[in-house]
Amino acid sequence: MAEKEPAVTSRRDLLANTGKAVGISALAGVMLPHVHAAENNTIQIALVGCGGRGTGAAMNALSVKNGPTKLVAMADVVPAKMNSSYDRLKTQLGDQVDVPQERRFLSYDAYKNAMDALKPGDVVILGTPPAFRWVQFKYAIDKGIHCFMEKPVTVDGPTTKRMFELADLSIQKNLKVGVGLMVRHCRARQELHRRIQDGEIGDIIAMRAYRMGQGGGTAGPRPSDESELTYQIKRFHAFLWASGGVFSDYYIHQIDECSWMKGAWPVEAHGVGGRHYRGDSLDQNFDTYSVQFVYPDGSRLYFDGRNMKGARDEFASYAHGSKGSAVISTLSHTPGITRIYHGQQMPWVANRQQLPLPPDPNVAWAFPQPEVSPYQYEWDDLMEAIREDKPFNEVRRGAIASLVTSMGRMAAHTGQIITYEQILNCPHEFAPNADKLTMDGPAPLKLGADGKYPVPEPGIKIDREY
Ligand SMILES: NC(=O)c1ccc[n+]([C@@H]2O[C@H](COP(=O)([O-])OP(=O)(O)OC[C@H]3O[C@@H](n4cnc5c(N)ncnc54)[C@H](O)[C@@H]3O)[C@@H](O)[C@H]2O)c1
Repeated sequence: MAEKEPAVTSRRDLLANTGKAVGISALAGVMLPHVHAAENNTIQIALVGCGGRGTGAAMNALSVKNGPTKLVAMADVVPAKMNSSYDRLKTQLGDQVDVPQERRFLSYDAYKNAMDALKPGDVVILGTPPAFRWVQFKYAIDKGIHCFMEKPVTVDGPTTKRMFELADLSIQKNLKVGVGLMVRHCRARQELHRRIQDGEIGDIIAMRAYRMGQGGGTAGPRPSDESELTYQIKRFHAFLWASGGVFSDYYIHQIDECSWMKGAWPVEAHGVGGRHYRGDSLDQNFDTYSVQFVYPDGSRLYFDGRNMKGARDEFASYAHGSKGSAVISTLSHTPGITRIYHGQQMPWVANRQQLPLPPDPNVAWAFPQPEVSPYQYEWDDLMEAIREDKPFNEVRRGAIASLVTSMGRMAAHTGQIITYEQILNCPHEFAPNADKLTMDGPAPLKLGADGKYPVPEPGIKIDREY
């Protein structure tokens, strides 16, 4: 069953939600001839944004088993990031990494140079902060290059509308595009999804999700040898323009996985949050968030996020149905250890030392362990779609997941009820000049006269977050 899109958006494509791909039958008549992989059967990869995740995604891309892949170009804006990523990849993957110095590019236009080194039908990895997603994806579409982009894919309404247009364009060009909501590719979650859709826990009445950890998204004072822009980029979780803050960047996964299980997108959100312990940090995040997402049938997802040392950790998602309950995520993203319970009693698994879980008579079904990482499955599925020319485009779904996450964030940051329509049509674009940034140019966010960046103030700033 597909999550129904809220009525406000015109439907130009069909949203299939099997966790694999977006159906494109509505556009079949206007599809262009498909783009072939490089003639020698090797699919070349370019990595744009050589940080932790980009490097990990490159490793997954080079580890697929259904045909040869090779990394041929890299782009970043921070030399140290580029160097450590290159060293790691080269050490682990040897000849599959063919990126001589002249194909390692450093600038805000480096993504163009890296993609210029590819042929149509190759793949670019966008592992940069979300603010650059639409800018770099647009170039990939122009070049006829398939794409893997990390989540979130947008951080506000205006960029979501732009991403919807780019999604349509990329489908018309038959480009295969994966979005890093890898849980959708987890076989354990796919099996749970099938069982929930088959009614094994009855109607979902409520869902709960928690991402509560020891901190995150802070920014100490700017070192004197860093430009304002480099400072913000290096700490992108601290600044809403770059990442949507910890709310968007961390919480999107669980808002997406719960909505997938529910088979619907939330249509409004309200919530609370505050800054208690940020100390001298210059970031724009709250320490705590508690947001209710309301689905079209009135049921809710209760989401708690906390970034606070010394408080209890939990990183899990649960669904409660009229006939039973389910664990969607147990301890972060992987392994999912998904399971269904006869009643509503589910134990809290505090840490990995508690694994494997002991036998429990309340468990009606559990996915067999161990599980393969969904970070690998998302690449196996993307590459299979490219090689076999199967429909595969996750951009629209990724943009909606990003938008409903922004809806929850805006609700907490403004202290208002925010609807899907309101967040989609909110004119505040956080970084309208994301395509024009330069190494020595200004940053999208400016320090105030008090030496601080603006922060959300619920009840005071109500039409925009800062
Ligand atoms: N799917 C997941 O589970 C998962 C996990 C971690 C991160 N992510 C996502 O991956 C993205 C990157 O996160 P990360 O943890 O790897 O951060 P990171 O800081 O380690 O990496 C980001 C890299 O992009 C570079 N960069 C920034 N702006 C750039 C630009 N305009 N052009 C080229 N390079 C640029 C940075 O210098 C850095 O090397 C984020 O969107 C994040 O949400 C996803």
